[in-house]
Amino acid sequence: MAKEKVLVTSALPYANGPIHLGHLSGAYLPADIYVRYKRLNGDDVIYICGSDEHGVPITLTADREKVSPQVIIDRYHQANKKAFERFGMSFDNYSRTSLSVHHQTAKEFFLEFYNRGLFTEKKSLQFFDETANMFLPDRYVEGTCPKCGNTEARSDECENCGSLYDPSELKNPKSKISGATPALKETSHYYFPLGKYQPALEKYVDEMNSKYGWKENVLQYCRGWFKDGLKDRAITRDLDWGIKVPVDSAAGKVIYVWFEAVLGYISSTKELSQLKNDPDLWKKYWYDPKTKYIAFIGKDNVVFHTIIFPAILMAWNEGGKEQYCLPQNVPSNEFLNFEGKKFSKSRNWGIDVDEFLDLFPPDLLRYTLAANLPESRDTDFYWKEFQLRNNSELADILGNFINRTFTFVFKHFDGKVPALAKLEKIDEDILKEISYYPKRVADLFEKFRIRDGVNEIMNLARDGNKYFNDTEPWKTIKSDKERCGTTLNICLQTIYSLAELFSPALPFSTEKLFKMLNAKPVRWDESGKPQLKAGHQLNPAEILFPKIEDEKIQLQIDKLDDSTAKQTTESQLVSYEDFMKIELRVAEVIEAEKVSKSEKLLKLKIKIDDTERQVVAGIARSYNPADLVGKKVVIVANLQPAKLMGLESQGMILACDNTEGGLFVINVPENVKSGTRVK
Ligand code: 2FM
Ligand code: ZN
Repeated sequence: MAKEKVLVTSALPYANGPIHLGHLSGAYLPADIYVRYKRLNGDDVIYICGSDEHGVPITLTADREKVSPQVIIDRYHQANKKAFERFGMSFDNYSRTSLSVHHQTAKEFFLEFYNRGLFTEKKSLQFFDETANMFLPDRYVEGTCPKCGNTEARSDECENCGSLYDPSELKNPKSKISGATPALKETSHYYFPLGKYQPALEKYVDEMNSKYGWKENVLQYCRGWFKDGLKDRAITRDLDWGIKVPVDSAAGKVIYVWFEAVLGYISSTKELSQLKNDPDLWKKYWYDPKTKYIAFIGKDNVVFHTIIFPAILMAWNEGGKEQYCLPQNVPSNEFLNFEGKKFSKSRNWGIDVDEFLDLFPPDLLRYTLAANLPESRDTDFYWKEFQLRNNSELADILGNFINRTFTFVFKHFDGKVPALAKLEKIDEDILKEISYYPKRVADLFEKFRIRDGVNEIMNLARDGNKYFNDTEPWKTIKSDKERCGTTLNICLQTIYSLAELFSPALPFSTEKLFKMLNAKPVRWDESGKPQLKAGHQLNPAEILFPKIEDEKIQLQIDKLDDSTAKQTTESQLVSYEDFMKIELRVAEVIEAEKVSKSEKLLKLKIKIDDTERQVVAGIARSYNPADLVGKKVVIVANLQPAKLMGLESQGMILACDNTEGGLFVINVPENVKSGTRVK
């Protein structure tokens, strides 16, 4: 295949916390494997990344720690860069969006659009904290959701019920900075006309998909956005931290982080040009229509890379100046969970990369994550699976095959590659099989089926072990040394192929393996042909994949249990006074009916003493409404009323899940009167 010019980017992680395994599985490890494979394939590749150093999450962390955002980004940029290096990420450049090259790039795009009159300026009401004298970004305001009563809703969005609303509808707004009630104040922002680009974006997504086959999850997402209709998007914010809007009338405003972060890919490539003393290097990739630009991301970033970033580039290209290339594919992964739950820094659930690499070598982690990438659905990291992948696959299959072959060659052939004698069918079959692997794996990698590709390579190690067993060199060494030599020659050629094919996923171990083979990698497509000449001297073997003892894994699992237990004992305990604030009472159901258009909800009329109330409860799948009438239930009587499907609910009925997913109310003994307090 002709050599391709490939530009690969991985989402720029926020310099706001340490990288964990979930990040690696999403946008980093698959990209690194792809890039390493493309390099071996002889393609002209650059791999770009860096820290995303603006945005509200960073200022929130800084506020919490009472330090400046600069302290936070310096800390995490360095830490993440180092963690990535330890993990073997082969970025050509790992930049930061706080660099002036990035500020200049973002301002250049902004001004180009501003001067062309592309933006519209619109006024809106936004919360303003008088005490702190600042406009409050959405995440700095907390209040009660006007739709569901969730008391931790943001200014215009509720994560609990997914509603979007006008900030003026939020109840009891509180500033997270000062705790004061913020006032709504008029502000004005520049809006990027995303709607105007909808037809061009739809065409772009369709074309790229039909030529290059986008992933179904990415397409679904795009179609959803197109169906709802793209709206103009505010691309400025009233904030201190970020890239100042380069227009005099916009003092105190910065460019919206997502507008500039995606441009970070360009500025990181510009920085690479500076570092390499090749000022035009970045243009050779970004301005070449033949560049194959692949943007690796996690699923939470889809809209920014398939809609917003392409729209920005299209808008630039319309100016008739240089033409930027747009992403040709956007491989987006689902999420990796940790031992059955989401990674969570605040709940201490998960493990950081650095912590992990203090315990185990990087390739073990790379292999476990690669063999289980969340490419089509969310997957999990389990310590036990990690141990199993190492012990039963890396050690027992790959390591064992390498080890038994090397041991044999050193014992009986002085560590030199034995000559090939007459080939039998079994030899021809495996040589043919080896020759298919580079293309077979490349086809999977080219489709971003990195997980399948890596699992496929382990099959070659399985083939190798089977061949070793079937040809019985421990017997032929006594009966027919030439025949034995042929077997071992073929085993060594297989090991050579394994070294090459596994090198993108296991760069550290395969480097050692190449040293043992006393050889260098060749072009990917050559690696299926025998590369080691008879008589070639090998270096002594070392054990590449020692087994992991149960105790070492158990220690990690126990730590997890400890931290869960700790969470319950420290942060999640409530005081007796707090508990007593919840008024639990026995109530009697007097009417029950299904809520139309809802499978889950029942509308109940209940009686507490002599007062009646309406409660909406999610128990419709477990009860026939008529069977509930006359039943006593426990309700939270002093819960703030909330609306569910437009119906007011004045309290919550206590119920519990059973193992089949049913939801059943807590039973109350017959002789307990309605109104009785439950304590
Ligand atoms: O989700 C995130 O971590 C973002 N910082 C990703 C940004 S990707 C690109 F826009 F830079
Ligand atoms: Zn809500």
